[in-house]
Amino acid sequence: MPTTFITGGTVVSATGRTAADILVDGERIAALLEPGSTVLGTDLARTADTVIDATGKYVVPGGIDAHTHMSMPFGGTTASDDFETGTRAAAWGGTTTIIDFAVQKFGERLQDSLATWHEMAAGQCAIDYGFHQIVGDVNDASLQALRGLPDEGITSYKLFMAYPGVFYSDDAQILRAMQTGASTGLMTMMHAENGPAIDVLVGQLLEQGKTDPYYHGIARAWQLEEEATHRAIMLADLTGAPLYVVHVSAKQAVAQVASARDRGRNVFGETCPQYLYLSLEEQLGAPGFEGAKWVCSTPLRSRAEHHQDHMWQALRTNDIQMVATDHCPFCMKGQKDMGVGDFSKIPNGIGSVEHRMDLMYQGVVEGRISLERWVEITSTTPARMFGLYGRKGVLAPGADADVVIYDPNGHTSIGLGKTHHMNMDHSAWEGFEIDGHVDTVLSRGKVVVDAGEYLGRKGDGRFVRRDPCQYLI
Ligand code: URP
Ligand code: ZN
Ligand code: ZN
Repeated sequence: MPTTFITGGTVVSATGRTAADILVDGERIAALLEPGSTVLGTDLARTADTVIDATGKYVVPGGIDAHTHMSMPFGGTTASDDFETGTRAAAWGGTTTIIDFAVQKFGERLQDSLATWHEMAAGQCAIDYGFHQIVGDVNDASLQALRGLPDEGITSYKLFMAYPGVFYSDDAQILRAMQTGASTGLMTMMHAENGPAIDVLVGQLLEQGKTDPYYHGIARAWQLEEEATHRAIMLADLTGAPLYVVHVSAKQAVAQVASARDRGRNVFGETCPQYLYLSLEEQLGAPGFEGAKWVCSTPLRSRAEHHQDHMWQALRTNDIQMVATDHCPFCMKGQKDMGVGDFSKIPNGIGSVEHRMDLMYQGVVEGRISLERWVEITSTTPARMFGLYGRKGVLAPGADADVVIYDPNGHTSIGLGKTHHMNMDHSAWEGFEIDGHVDTVLSRGKVVVDAGEYLGRKGDGRFVRRDPCQYLI
């Protein structure tokens, strides 16, 4: 097996940092060694097949983005990144595993939707990938199919309290699915917004001629996120289902998650970079149709109401456990522009899969989270939450050699124009400057990104079967 020796760096984990060298043998980490040590008299810096000098840099476990939507059919169109382009962009940004959502549409057999997602991803991915299962049609057959998911290496499924007529489940369906999920050992993931109430507000706003992207954020009021989050928690409480609330954006929803956790419940919250950095006023409220770039659900929240600061605080205190992107990109031309004159027709989603590690590292630079917490929320907790820990999310002997060498003295400009690798005609992050840089990325031992060059190829990534959640209280 080819060996790689990563020397001179500071290895950072969720619990600490230390100067250490790393020996990679084939696809796995073979050893963490004191700097300068030899193995049976062998100087690895001279004998390894590849030597990577990480002096002055952080060596961290590859990022795990547990919420992506490659090629998702949504809002009358399809997310613009497929598994090839999206996972390559992820690799560029130091993410070495994604967990994407297989989408069961209304009327479709759950097993067929999973087979479709396998077909779309197989042989296309630059990095490893797993699946959650979206259940868009809760009925006897799909509940029966849910029971088979662990055998397929899938240990989580997602329901929507939003999007009536598309993916929406009513309370009765949620209750039944949670009962099945609880008895099957699945994590229930929830898009927690009150969809029927949102649809009433959307109709009223449009009738009043309020058609700009900004009103997407007004219709999807925080009260409707808080209410749905509370309801989901209560139904989970009743059924004993562990609950993971996706893309939490409102501080009031955070409080619901925190209060459930304070009561000892297996309730977890995910947020996304957009809810930490961007706002209703500045982005959704941008002049003209520009705000469409940032139409996503849950929506960006008001900076005047300080949701962003609360979210950073919640990340520090573990009221929110991890950060994923909810990567669901759409181009302005031909996709977002379907909603000119009617914000409800703008496909919902933002593309960030390439920037998550950098954006969260900027939180370290700005003193909002510690270096260790950065690793925890971007890699270690996602691994534990979704049954990958030991193989992923940690740099230890036996783990997959998914490694990022991050330069704290480097710089990353997410400039105007095409300075990213996602399949989009714009970026939601234009103008962001990051005081750090992803220098080198190894995916199961193979160097896929180095010194500004992509060295991997499609098909490098494999499907990863997942164990049940390793994060339960
Ligand atoms: O706006 C979003 N979040 N689009 C993707 C679908 C979802 O709700 O996660
Ligand atoms: Zn969602
Ligand atoms: Zn999503």
